[in-house]
Amino acid sequence: MQNSNNKEVLVEVRGLKKYFKVKRKKFVKAVDNVSFNIYKGETLGIVGESGCGKTTCGKTILGLYKATSGEVIFDGTNVHSLKPKDKIDFTKRAQIIFQDPYSSLNPRMTVGDIIGEGIDIHKLYKNKKREEKIFELLYTVGLNKEHINRFPHEFSGGQRQRIGIARALAIEPDFIVCDEPISALDVSIQAQIVNLLMRLQREKNLTYLFIAHDLSMVKYISDRVGVMYLGNLVELTTSEKLYDNPLHPYTQALLSSIPIPDPEEEKNKERIPIHGEIPSAIDPPLGCRFVTRCKFAKEVCKKDMPEFREVDKEHFVACHRV
Ligand SMILES: Nc1ncnc2c1ncn2[C@@H]1O[C@H](COP(=O)(O)OP(=O)(O)O)[C@@H](O)[C@H]1O
Ligand SMILES: [Mg+2]
Repeated sequence: MQNSNNKEVLVEVRGLKKYFKVKRKKFVKAVDNVSFNIYKGETLGIVGESGCGKTTCGKTILGLYKATSGEVIFDGTNVHSLKPKDKIDFTKRAQIIFQDPYSSLNPRMTVGDIIGEGIDIHKLYKNKKREEKIFELLYTVGLNKEHINRFPHEFSGGQRQRIGIARALAIEPDFIVCDEPISALDVSIQAQIVNLLMRLQREKNLTYLFIAHDLSMVKYISDRVGVMYLGNLVELTTSEKLYDNPLHPYTQALLSSIPIPDPEEEKNKERIPIHGEIPSAIDPPLGCRFVTRCKFAKEVCKKDMPEFREVDKEHFVACHRV
């Protein structure tokens, strides 16, 4: 695991907001004032329950959604004010791997054309060279030459995710948003895909934003981890610090829900339940977003939104108690 000190920033996210208009004058505050850096070569994990804004955050960083406000600076350039020509250069450098390998691959395209699409758009290789490149990519992700003319339905979930990874790699990006790439897969396949992503990161010097809904696999793959709750980032630090010394009550609750392999330890550990449902992102609580479910909540938590601040070296948290 690396330390983020003295590391070069690849992606700078500043006060990012993404609101979706749903009804007249009603907005879903999917991402609400989120700030963090992603360092070159690292894996930044983002975790949080379903609906907390992880996918929206990833897609807004990639410019797939227009930001409501705030900035995303990628290698010195503002992603949300790119000229069309520069936008093409940016998409060549930043890619996404989707959660659902079943719906994210066009069922009418062959594997070769799915992987080759980016190569064609960016005019990287043609004819024989293009085919060789696709063979190489298939091999890189653990598939083989014979797969080039087949269709997605002929593959298992794990194999489809390998195709999705090959598609992302085809244009040789620097940065990949991995949006729950293993959540839809059998547990037995999950480790294979994670190991493939980690090997590719080492070989190709990739930077990942790795999104997940629980903390179990994220610890293993991430250098640092950010915890999201209802559109906010509530804690961000190195994997070690997050697991050894979680400061936000929500992080503590998420961690306590991961089973410990040792049955004796598992039986005796303190469990921190989260009560109630996640509130609506249309009218979120006014103070701390977690106030309705936090067993430590005080008056101030209902009124004032806690500032997301560095409380210890490289340890950011938004909580009035800390
Ligand atoms: N295109 C959209 N239009 C309206 N609301 C959306 C849209 N996409 C996501 N949302 C809402 O934004 C919130 C965050 O969603 P999402 O980013 O998909 O969360 P996650 O990936 O953490 O599960 C949810 O309340 C979701 O219903
Ligand atoms: Mg999602």
